[in-house]
Amino acid sequence: MRYLRWDETLFRNYEVFDEDYLPEEYLHRETQLNRLVSNLKPALRGARPVNCLCLGPPGTGKTTAVKLIFKDLSEFEGVIPVYVNCQIMNSKQQVFAKIFRAVYGYEPPSYGVPFTKLYYSVMKGIGERVLVVALDDLNFLLSEEVANEVLYALLKAHEEVEGVKVGIVGIATDVKLAARLDERVSSVFHPDEIHFPLYGFEEIRDILASRARFGFYPGVLSDEALDKIAELCYEYGDLRFGIYLMKLAGLEAEREASRRIELRHVEAVYEGSRRVFLKKSVQALSDHERVLLGLIYSSDELTTGELYRRFKEMTAVGYTKFYEMLSKLESIRLIDTRFEQRGGRTRAIIKRYEPALVLDALEEF
Ligand SMILES: Nc1ncnc2c1ncn2[C@@H]1O[C@H](COP(=O)(O)OP(=O)(O)O)[C@@H](O)[C@H]1O
Ligand SMILES: [Mg+2]
Repeated sequence: MRYLRWDETLFRNYEVFDEDYLPEEYLHRETQLNRLVSNLKPALRGARPVNCLCLGPPGTGKTTAVKLIFKDLSEFEGVIPVYVNCQIMNSKQQVFAKIFRAVYGYEPPSYGVPFTKLYYSVMKGIGERVLVVALDDLNFLLSEEVANEVLYALLKAHEEVEGVKVGIVGIATDVKLAARLDERVSSVFHPDEIHFPLYGFEEIRDILASRARFGFYPGVLSDEALDKIAELCYEYGDLRFGIYLMKLAGLEAEREASRRIELRHVEAVYEGSRRVFLKKSVQALSDHERVLLGLIYSSDELTTGELYRRFKEMTAVGYTKFYEMLSKLESIRLIDTRFEQRGGRTRAIIKRYEPALVLDALEEF
């Protein structure tokens, strides 16, 4: 072989750094795991679980927690765990087709099945078992009002088909999600809210060190490089960023034929990684949220009031919605806000990135 020398890799397993990799060690989330477990446990005895809602910023381990528990659940005959990614399955039909597959073990007829028919087949197929549905990234459905319909259809299942037992695990970044649901949904949906706060620096360092142990050969990642990655990741707020940085730094070290990942390798890939990540965050926003972000990054420092005035001129969005969008941009750490000295509710909006970087990421849309 002329170009690739497989014997000289630093990676023990590349997959460890993939987005959808389920980690061997899930650290610092005992409280959240225990809450999920106790809520879902009734399903093991054939009873209806307690519905829950996992809430927190991106990269705080929500998806991982639910997937780890669903993996355990799948070992019980009496339970049908179904994980639905609402970013991909974003219609009622698609969500229930996915549930159909889990219930029957084969595909539903793909054409011309009316929703009602699909729905009743699913509910009748459950039988004595307990259906547990995870709806990940629920906010993606919510913007299109589909979430209310999906939740409602699941919540009223036991009224439609006698004895059916369904549990729901919603996952979202929007901590106020429950308050935004339809009246008819919120009057029957009282989920146990489980919060996933941002990790602290030490927690991030621990988690990244654990990843490195499974992903790289022993001694490959230098302490200086790990510290730097943890520091940058902490600043960014999303664990995914740290994992991605670690992988790129590893590839960079390999490219240099270095036996270890050093600080300079992290520094070499940092700018590029940040750009890639920013693009991903921007991609996950709605059109209006992108307009708002663009407005913030193309203006001088603004207060929330001034920002709203300008935003209203560009879109027809009302104040409550505007406020929610602003909180979202803050919770996914694209901006910060700070209360003004003058008092009152007015806040100043602070950019967390160089404007050029964000405007560049927005350009593609
Ligand atoms: N507590 C943890 N221990 C180990 N790995 C974690 C932990 N929390 C998150 N991760 C890893 O960080 C990445 C993002 O986690 P994820 O569950 O997708 O976050 P979220 O769904 O909250 O956006 C994944 O690669 C996941 O394996
Ligand atoms: Mg997730």
